[in-house]
Amino acid sequence: MTERGDDRLLLVKDLCKSYGGLNALAGVCLDVRLGEVHAVVGENGAGKSTLMKILGGAIRRDSGTVFFKGHEVEFHTPHDSIRAGISVIHQELSVLPKMSIIENIYMGRMPSVMGGVPWKRLEKRTIELLGQVGLDINPHLQMNDLSISQRQLVEIAKALSKDSSLIIMDEPNSSLSEHETDTLFALIRSLKERGVSVVYVSHKIEEVLRISDRVTAFKDGAYVGTVESASATVDDIIRMMIGRELTREYVPNSSHGPVLLKVKGLSGGGFEDVSFELGRGEVLCFAGLVGAGRSETMRALFGADPIRAGEIEFEGRRTRFSSPKQALQNGFAMVQEDRKRLSLFMNLDIMANIGMAQLPRIRRGLAVDRARLRELSQRFFAALSIKARSAYQAVRDLSGGNQQKVVLARWLATNPKILILDEPTHGIDIGAKSEIYDLIRRLAGEGVSIILISSELPEVIAMADRAVVMHEGRVAATLPRGEITEHTIMSYATGNIGGKPR
Ligand SMILES: Nc1ncnc2c1ncn2[C@@H]1O[C@H](COP(=O)(O)OP(=O)(O)OP(=O)(O)O)[C@@H](O)[C@H]1O
Ligand SMILES: [Mg+2]
Repeated sequence: MTERGDDRLLLVKDLCKSYGGLNALAGVCLDVRLGEVHAVVGENGAGKSTLMKILGGAIRRDSGTVFFKGHEVEFHTPHDSIRAGISVIHQELSVLPKMSIIENIYMGRMPSVMGGVPWKRLEKRTIELLGQVGLDINPHLQMNDLSISQRQLVEIAKALSKDSSLIIMDEPNSSLSEHETDTLFALIRSLKERGVSVVYVSHKIEEVLRISDRVTAFKDGAYVGTVESASATVDDIIRMMIGRELTREYVPNSSHGPVLLKVKGLSGGGFEDVSFELGRGEVLCFAGLVGAGRSETMRALFGADPIRAGEIEFEGRRTRFSSPKQALQNGFAMVQEDRKRLSLFMNLDIMANIGMAQLPRIRRGLAVDRARLRELSQRFFAALSIKARSAYQAVRDLSGGNQQKVVLARWLATNPKILILDEPTHGIDIGAKSEIYDLIRRLAGEGVSIILISSELPEVIAMADRAVVMHEGRVAATLPRGEITEHTIMSYATGNIGGKPR
């Protein structure tokens, strides 16, 4: 094959990019064939998004070459990249929250017919595009009103609208349900049939192997290797990504302390008659399909949403929090799923973001006790191995997965009695994931009670002392450790058995 081989749509060679002293990319390579689905994997901070931003014209490379359709290219703006035929769905979705779906899809390229926008035509086209990604919703809805997964799907629809020859998806399905992921995969296959190439970035290795033709791994900004997906195993990919084997064994323990929290008949928006008990030092997993009402239940428990009926008993006293602040003061902490929108202060540094929930505690008069803040953040900065130059780096400049770790660190630092984690490992690489599992186990061992909402069955199986399975807003089953299997969880989660509490 020649340097610019015919079957290669994209060829990236020795690309470098540094930020201050940090080499985000230190010589990465990638070649993508026509009509190929090419996955890119690597730990949090490996440089995946940096490459995708360069290919999308959002940032400039320092050195290296990029060939696209046989020509050397350099994109100065996103517009250059789109014109060349590349469309990028960035990891940090760039939606305009107060605008409609149609406006978001046609942002910056509204056609005009005799000085006016042909709304009817755009509406029709938008409905078609939404249909392709499996969304049956009104195109005039504001982005604000959509769930994260719906927003992700709109971004994908937007990429489709550009008729590109290469679509880059940077963790497109980190918040998609299994069903939505199936729709996405069917879509990727049909793109492939039309000769469109797809670059697919994800931490979900099984899925990566299922959807891609080849996989390329990066580590610390450098190229590790490329393998054919058909002949690779999950362990092969993990080894390429993290440079070592990973032991994936956890020892849940079904013995835990006395009941700390009793929830009886809790009802509110999206959940009905939810009852469960949580022991001291117990890891209680909430399994179920996306939309089963798990996050809603926990948000209400945490004082973020109203409760219509039901009782909460905490440490033997009847309790009801009217705000998250009150919950926090009482020893509750909650890491919510929609982390970026809900909680990160992008322009502040890591230390301030970790310390945020501590402010009442570490205030000295009107001033913040900087030394105490530094000590706290350093501890969790290290415990979660957040990859950054220092704790003074702005959160905006961290990789997606490392931003997630900052939010986790913030709530861990509050030293809670009850820690509620809503999909805490979304977007977290597989090595860091096992560190987070260890940390959860360690906290439980120290007596912290953990509620873990997770849609990933292996995660539930690895972590749960007991599991509550929800279906359509109700508790379908409460399973002891011994009965937690993929099969039982899925049967209850899909409503195929049960429906009444056991
Ligand atoms: N604007 C910036 N300023 C400083 N450092 C940056 C900036 N953008 C990215 N980095 C750093 O570059 C490195 C690579 O980040 P990148 O976002 O490419 O990682 P990634 O592989 O996409 O990780 P993840 O899986 O967490 O999304 C990280 O260490 C990150 O902190
Ligand atoms: Mg990334």
